[in-house]
Amino acid sequence: MDIIDILDAFVVADDVNDARGFMKKVKSIFKNKKKMKILGATEKPFAKVAVDGIKKVVEENGHQFALLEKYTDVNDFYAAVADADALIVRSDKVTKEVIDHAKNLKIVVRAGAGYDNLDLEACTARGIVAMNTPGQNSNAVAELVMGMLVYAVRNFYNGKSGSELMGKKLGILAFGNVGRNVARIAKGFGMDVYAYDAFMTAEQIEATGMAKAVANQQALFEQCDIVSLHIPATAETKQSINYDLVGKMHNGGILVNSARKEVIDEAGLLKLMAERTDLKYVTDIMPDADAEFKAFEGRYFATPKKMGAQTEEANINAGIAAANQIADFFKTGNKKFQVNK
Ligand code: 3PG
Repeated sequence: MDIIDILDAFVVADDVNDARGFMKKVKSIFKNKKKMKILGATEKPFAKVAVDGIKKVVEENGHQFALLEKYTDVNDFYAAVADADALIVRSDKVTKEVIDHAKNLKIVVRAGAGYDNLDLEACTARGIVAMNTPGQNSNAVAELVMGMLVYAVRNFYNGKSGSELMGKKLGILAFGNVGRNVARIAKGFGMDVYAYDAFMTAEQIEATGMAKAVANQQALFEQCDIVSLHIPATAETKQSINYDLVGKMHNGGILVNSARKEVIDEAGLLKLMAERTDLKYVTDIMPDADAEFKAFEGRYFATPKKMGAQTEEANINAGIAAANQIADFFKTGNKKFQVNK
């Protein structure tokens, strides 16, 4: 605390003759100005420009930034988090063990949308606020989806005649930030866009003006040429994209997954693709059974590492949003994006 802080407290004190009130203000300003250690722990690193931006936000707010990137040993994560007050992660698993090592942790922000990598129960049990940064990387993911679709309909660029996306029916499963960005771009391709979302009514979907609603999940698979998955991995959705559901797709169907590998019943999809030689599966999340899927040459593609959100823009958007959310939480207590309420 320096002289400026003392003067600030003096200026804002209701009654400068009230010593107790004055000291209270001094204390609250001192508390708000306490330097927090904010750790960015990203096994898959952010672009440098994003890291620089995060550091700037953290330091401008009077805190200290530490960075652990590309770690291969979880013990390095445990050691780095030991004295951290706040944590920024991507898909990094914030397990109970991580929480147990983080004695000072008050807030963890998943710089991204899906927070299935955070042990929310462990956070809540310790009174740690968990947040995500919804929408910040959704355009990046949506662009990758469209790129993978072009790649798929052009036969993985093998030189043979393929087909076009224009006029094809695209089904979007879950119509959140990524799903809507996919719809926006797909419309530019001249696709006929349909959507289903378990948490939205047909009217709500159609009110966006971006997609026609279908009655249920199954109808999306029955009616569309391509289905794009945007559901989170939850107890209800895990393994829900299975043999029966994907089997509803008509000839030449394409399934594209930029959500989570856990939502796929891999054994069921492998069985189906062996029986249905017309189906293609393209995914930004390598399945556990990647080696088996690779047998479907010309019908299967997986990125080597999840790269939907791996753009400078998405890293800047999500990373800096995370840093701002943390700074604001320490300053004002704002918990707007809390996910463990
Ligand atoms: C998300 O949930 O935001 C995306 O899957 C991106 O994940 P990533 O930060 O690990 O790339």
